[in-house]
Amino acid sequence: MERTLIIFKPDAMNRMLVGQILARFEAKGLRLAAMKLQQSPRAQVEKHYAVHAERPFYGELCDFMTSAPVVVAILEGPSAIRVVRSMLGATNGADAAPGTIRGDFGLDKQYNLVHASDGEETAKQEIELFFKPEEIVDWQRAGDKWICS
Ligand code: CMP
Repeated sequence: MERTLIIFKPDAMNRMLVGQILARFEAKGLRLAAMKLQQSPRAQVEKHYAVHAERPFYGELCDFMTSAPVVVAILEGPSAIRVVRSMLGATNGADAAPGTIRGDFGLDKQYNLVHASDGEETAKQEIELFFKPEEIVDWQRAGDKWICS
């Protein structure tokens, strides 16, 4: 069982796509372990994207990510990090394969709807950056026994 952090970005919020996209993750069998709506403090966004600090789009990316509230969530399931990234598709929606979230809903490299952790170490760091331990819930769904044999 693996946990990954996702952020429904301001474009998903303003385009009212959160419910549709979340439904795909649920239908896949991934389980919510935490979820909240927040207006992200700029310092948190800058830390989250610190790896891109030298890229020309860093300032614009931080402006974008603080331009509206976002929904932040933790999804869990077998290989959740890899599964969620593959469901999102390529970074640029114009390049993302049909059937992926960005391939079906997006056309842009910045406005790409959802962020998801890209590895085990980043997932751990990102979960710690956005959630307090007491905000994360351990639970079982009635349907879980029909999702993983
Ligand atoms: P994300 O997966 O959240 O990781 C970094 C984000 O930077 C990425 O999604 C995009 O929103 C944004 N991004 C990546 N490449 C570019 C680019 N060339 N120009 C502008 N924004 C970008």
